[in-house]
Amino acid sequence: MSEHQKILLTGGAGFIGSQVAQAYLDAGHKVIVVDDFSRGKRDHLPEGVRVYQVDISNRDALNEVFRLARPTIVSHHAALVSVRESSEQPEAYWKVNLQGTVNIVEAASKAGVRKLIYASSGGAIYGEAEVLPIPENASANPISPYGESKFAAEKMLWRRDGNLETVVLRYGNVYGPGQNALQNNGVIAIFTHALLTGKQPLIFGDGSQTRDYVHVRDVVDANLAASKPGVGGIYNIGTGKAHSLLDVYNRIALSLKVTTLPLFLPHNHYEVEHNVLDVQRARERLGWQPCIPFAMGLWETVQAIETDHYQKYASV
Ligand SMILES: NC(=O)c1ccc[n+]([C@@H]2O[C@H](COP(=O)([O-])OP(=O)(O)OC[C@H]3O[C@@H](n4cnc5c(N)ncnc54)[C@H](O)[C@@H]3O)[C@@H](O)[C@H]2O)c1
Repeated sequence: MSEHQKILLTGGAGFIGSQVAQAYLDAGHKVIVVDDFSRGKRDHLPEGVRVYQVDISNRDALNEVFRLARPTIVSHHAALVSVRESSEQPEAYWKVNLQGTVNIVEAASKAGVRKLIYASSGGAIYGEAEVLPIPENASANPISPYGESKFAAEKMLWRRDGNLETVVLRYGNVYGPGQNALQNNGVIAIFTHALLTGKQPLIFGDGSQTRDYVHVRDVVDANLAASKPGVGGIYNIGTGKAHSLLDVYNRIALSLKVTTLPLFLPHNHYEVEHNVLDVQRARERLGWQPCIPFAMGLWETVQAIETDHYQKYASV
């Protein structure tokens, strides 16, 4: 981005949003965070952001924030993000993930925003794909209410009229320091936390399911690339490499030097078996590529969770 922008970032108190916020600040932009703190935490927010505690499904409150903030770019990361929880409370997912996004787009259009970046899910919207790694033009057949709500919001973005330049970033399984193990998503954080607290981690199915694990710093870089003027379209943001759940589990157990075995439970029908993203388009058109090797990113993440765990333990 050549000139400094005013960026309104929804979900800025969350795992990914807080790190995107920091990167925008570091690049000299003004950052305005909209978050209801239902999942994110105030102490995740970097210093120097202006904050509005607003639920994105509250249209009037959101319009008022846009009227006051007058952003040039909107980065929309606020969402409910658990596949499992979405199967238990689908209405909440439709309300926040679809209606909330409709509200964002309407408010952005009224306020004359130049560009919208939407954080979508390459892990959840494609469903069980026929071709791996999955290119952006594969058909989307989400199998969970989470994936359905994220894809419905994407479709709405492309169908509306207007001049809002739109970028959709379809992330793989994002991992890295800062992920919250207690929120029912982010398997690396969940396994690590369980092993550190002496619990037996759960694996739904036989552990052969594969995912594309992309480090949060690579995701942040993709957001910076997507923010440049003239960039629009849909991009997978992953690594193009698949790892099985059992492989991830074994690496974490090795790193923590524990021999605990996971508890295998029946397969969850809202979870796809295999997901790995083709990221060629992002390489060619965004000039972006994943830089953090999985072994290194995983080790760093486990170390960060372990350090945090022992600091809390020591302070009790
Ligand atoms: N983590 C991943 O692996 C992953 C993968 C694909 C896509 N995504 C997408 O990236 C985005 C961020 O995910 P994350 O992992 O950082 O999740 P997160 O739960 O850490 O962050 C989401 C943030 O949105 C806020 N929020 C939730 N409902 C809200 C509402 N109604 N109004 C205002 N704020 C609300 C939460 O308080 C939280 O701070 C989401 O849109 C998610 O769908 C994440």
